Amino acid sequence: MLRIAPSVLSADFGNLAEEVGAVASEADWLHVDVMDGHFVPNLTIGPPVVQSLRRHSGLFFDCHLMMTNPGDYLEAFRQAGADGCTVHVEVGDTAALLAEAKALGMKAGVALNPDTPFEAVAPVLDQVDLVLCMTVFPGFGGQAFMAEVLPKIEQVRRALDRAGSAAELEVDGGIDEETAVLVTRAGARVLVAGSAIFGDERPWEAARRIRLAAQKALPGGQVDS
Ligand code: DX5
Ligand code: ZN
Repeated sequence: MLRIAPSVLSADFGNLAEEVGAVASEADWLHVDVMDGHFVPNLTIGPPVVQSLRRHSGLFFDCHLMMTNPGDYLEAFRQAGADGCTVHVEVGDTAALLAEAKALGMKAGVALNPDTPFEAVAPVLDQVDLVLCMTVFPGFGGQAFMAEVLPKIEQVRRALDRAGSAAELEVDGGIDEETAVLVTRAGARVLVAGSAIFGDERPWEAARRIRLAAQKALPGGQVDS
């Protein structure tokens, strides 16, 4: 199973509902980038925007919390309509945050920055629904893909497979038709893309092209429609 998750960070924030609607037919999830101006040097979306968007979209809301204190907001995101919340391992207290997200009825994910080693998430792998390997330093859309993260993606894939885990392996940053092939070969199955999708005049077609490129890179290279 391969999932495409357009990141609203590169959408027109003045026109969010329409932008999300335009990609909905080719999106499996909607990736919502939450930045607190502290963990990363940018400010974006909070629970009120998620709540507003919820009224316009039935997609799975995959909230990526680039926040120093995600624990203070998990409940608010849940109430706003988040389906999954991913916290960064760098902020600490990961096991407790994952447990809280799950107790609230959400899928619980852990994210790693490009320079954070696999070993940082190894102890919580049996507690996650999703591992997010950042392929850029978080904070901004439109940055160049960091190929040096590929070995870590492979490492996470091997660990999940060895453990018989069904957790999703997601990548985020610089994903386009070309890099989609590399990360899929490395074992990623949820591909976040912002600028490559919303920067296109026909974002739904861009999402579809990324999906087709990734599907060809799956083991067996199957293309199902
Ligand atoms: C970066 C965000 C990403 C961002 C990706 O901090 O976490 O989700 O939107 O944007 P692109 O696909 O343009 O690299
Ligand atoms: Zn993100």
